Amino acid sequence: MSTHTVSQVTSLQGTASVPADKSVSHRAALMAALADGRSTLHGFPQAADPQSTLSCLRQLGVSIETEGDTVHIEGVGLHGLQAPANPIDCGNSGTTMRLLAGILAGQPFESTLTGDDSLRARPMARIANPLRQMDAEVTLTGGTAPIHLGGRSEPLHAMTYRLPMASAQVKSCVLLAGLYAEGTTTVIQPVPCRDHTERMLNLPIEVDDEGVQHIHITSDDDPKASVWNPLPGDFSSAAFLLVAATLVPDSEVTISNVGLNPTRTGLLDVLQAMGADLTVTDRTETNGEPMGTITARHAPLNGVTVEGDAIPNLIDEIPVLAVAAAASNGQTVIRDAAELRVKETDRLTAIAEVLTRLGIGVSEQEDGLTISGDRDALRGTTVRSFHDHRIAMAAGVAGCVARGETTIKGADSARISFPGFWDVLDRLQR
Ligand code: S3P
Repeated sequence: MSTHTVSQVTSLQGTASVPADKSVSHRAALMAALADGRSTLHGFPQAADPQSTLSCLRQLGVSIETEGDTVHIEGVGLHGLQAPANPIDCGNSGTTMRLLAGILAGQPFESTLTGDDSLRARPMARIANPLRQMDAEVTLTGGTAPIHLGGRSEPLHAMTYRLPMASAQVKSCVLLAGLYAEGTTTVIQPVPCRDHTERMLNLPIEVDDEGVQHIHITSDDDPKASVWNPLPGDFSSAAFLLVAATLVPDSEVTISNVGLNPTRTGLLDVLQAMGADLTVTDRTETNGEPMGTITARHAPLNGVTVEGDAIPNLIDEIPVLAVAAAASNGQTVIRDAAELRVKETDRLTAIAEVLTRLGIGVSEQEDGLTISGDRDALRGTTVRSFHDHRIAMAAGVAGCVARGETTIKGADSARISFPGFWDVLDRLQR
């Protein structure tokens, strides 16, 4: 297992770029495959998760050429995928598995989706249940993957589905299955979560009297071939560098072309409420996804409470938010975040272990954490990443402020979303 050691840093200065957004890249590749004609995705990430989506699509007969970080995908149309010869390996990528399941549920051929040990331990009933309600034949293995999807010659049944949890993967799975259904499929989302699928397919959304969104899809909403020039940078990757620059004294770090979709950037608001010095400039758009430049300068932070509808918009940033909280004055409470228990690892337990080992008082609740911020208490030691990219990188950020040296076991898991992370962190040090 690879380890990486981070020493306490005196200053972070400079500019950095981050890999393209993982959520957008998965979807852009899937949509391109189902479109008619050729799509070109500039700046496609080398990160392992989006690469898993490409390799799954190849197994389904989609022709994909790469030239550096430009990917050309020859769309096969909604009904052009080919039966795979073997089980399809989604690696560590929950988004690949859950979105592909929605697409494969409507195919005339059988298929099986599998993944690594972490992915095979994650709950899949959350997609199997709605897909079965649409009349798909879905067989799980004890509630998890491998997932077997039976082929069907008839279209799926359209349905109205109220999301039981704020999961964009479940929402997108049902919407993609809706492309293969007769009639209008509607997903009701009581709590908004990332909306890249709706944006890419330009889906009609109604808002009811309670302010709840009803997202509609039919087989006429088929994806169109597109050019992404570029794909937006991943806010979730930028988050590690923004928090590091906020925490390390005498720091100023600027990251350009970062995705700024409001369903993703909840961390900006929370950090600002804690006292962070963040500025956003050069706002623009790429294929309907907002994007811009973010600069973070060092600032002292205070504890905060984060809960309720704010959680889905920063769900992947909670590990690094917890590190910011550890280096803040006062207590931070994170609640309504039980979904973190079913990510690549149980992230509540993982964060609690990392911060406790670094000297911070943390208590773990069923749906959250209470963190007693104490920057001076942070002392470097050896911590586990739980083979989870976001835990590894969050621990790296903590290592920038902890006294002495912090050694992260399994640091190479950063490659899942941000392969160059450790080099970028080194390069910014002054
Ligand atoms: C994602 C949705 C979120 C997020 C994951 C990516 C997506 O998962 O945590 O990293 O691209 O749809 P859930 O849908 O399980 O909340």
